[in-house]
Amino acid sequence: MNSTSNNPIGVFDSGIGGTSIWKEINTLLPNENTIYLADSKNAPYGQKSEEKILELSIKNTEILLEKNCKVIVVACNTATTNAIQYLRENYNVPFIGIEPAIKPASINTKTKNIGILATKGTLNSGLFTATSSNINKEVTIIEQIGEGLVELIEKGDLTSKKMTDLLTDHLQKLIKHNIDYLVLGCTHYPYLIPQIREVIGTDITIIDSGQAVAKQTKRVLENNNLLNIKNTKVKHRFYTNTTTKVLEFVLGNNQNYTIENLNF
Ligand code: DGL
Repeated sequence: MNSTSNNPIGVFDSGIGGTSIWKEINTLLPNENTIYLADSKNAPYGQKSEEKILELSIKNTEILLEKNCKVIVVACNTATTNAIQYLRENYNVPFIGIEPAIKPASINTKTKNIGILATKGTLNSGLFTATSSNINKEVTIIEQIGEGLVELIEKGDLTSKKMTDLLTDHLQKLIKHNIDYLVLGCTHYPYLIPQIREVIGTDITIIDSGQAVAKQTKRVLENNNLLNIKNTKVKHRFYTNTTTKVLEFVLGNNQNYTIENLNF
């Protein structure tokens, strides 16, 4: 254990979506303190320019570093694919990012067609283009921008008719291509899995990267001698720059956490 191992893991996202990753991290690493930053005021990142996404990622990183985070999880595909390289080169803590899981989908597909639902910012990024050009050439990736979904999820709307209609429209454009894997390339989307199942049925496998990110976070902590082995009560602090209500809704009331407003 080194002197910072009791410090929190920092996690940020454009809003509440990264809590789907936070939950996986907390399950795998229950002894770790955490700080979560929900930049909901600036959501969605997915429609913004690369420069703007980088600027927001830098701002979030600096807040987490001021709060003494020992590692930072970029719990946002859009921020990872547009900014993680810069963050790694310019800050002296380990960063863990999240990218759409097209590799496992491309290895396991039988129909040789995989669908991905992600933001425009992720699908247009250089990192995603590079990753997708490296998969098996026999596999076709069908891309669909999840336009409008993050905005509704940020309002706590997972089940309205508006959501169902929008989701059905996006998914139908993917399933008509005979896909057998659907990759969720945005950390907000795991909250829609029951609704997605209603549309796509049970024959298509849904993959997201939450567990992989949690495992990678554990590996990074181990490799840097940063696992928290102190036996003190664990604290989870969530900060949002809009209402606390949607965070309360997605976290439920069985967690040991605080949610506060922060002006950032
Ligand atoms: N949760 C995010 C992601 O994984 C960002 C969504 C957005 O703000 O557009 O891409």
